Amino acid sequence: MSSLLENIFQDADTSLNVLQVLATNTFDSILITDATKDAKIVYANKAFKTLTGYAPSEVIGKTPRILQGAATDRKVIARLTDSLKRGGQFEGKAINYKKNGTPFIMYWRVLPVKVGNQIKVWVAIQREGYVI
Ligand SMILES: Cc1cc2nc3c(=O)[nH]c(=O)nc-3n(C[C@H](O)[C@H](O)[C@H](O)COP(=O)(O)O)c2cc1C
Repeated sequence: MSSLLENIFQDADTSLNVLQVLATNTFDSILITDATKDAKIVYANKAFKTLTGYAPSEVIGKTPRILQGAATDRKVIARLTDSLKRGGQFEGKAINYKKNGTPFIMYWRVLPVKVGNQIKVWVAIQREGYVI
């Protein structure tokens, strides 16, 4: 047993409950998308609403592209697309837009969740960044 997390995650019900408590209560915004090319949102937590103004229910089935706009740096997005294609990780900052149109600096990471070799979903951890 190499880590405490492994101890906790031995039991499936406990694993799910721990993940639920973490995802629901973390201060960071969490977005999970499916593994399709379009990366459709399958989960957003409460902090996503605090950050962007969008309720989780209104973004399910959409793509995180709804956060982008005129001032979004396409070079950062191209780097993200490249990471997705390679099945790798991404970390970066770009201008995104809240539901009410207010621009802000999104600072986020995107990571693949794999079972074996297959990517099942993408997880993003997001917060407001202060320096671009
Ligand atoms: C899990 C995940 C989270 C994402 N979160 C954001 C985000 O917060 N802001 C953003 O501008 N793009 C985000 N994206 C990127 C877009 O969904 C999309 O992949 C990107 O715009 C490239 O596609 P396009 O060139 O067709 O626009 C995210 C992608 C994934 C997979």
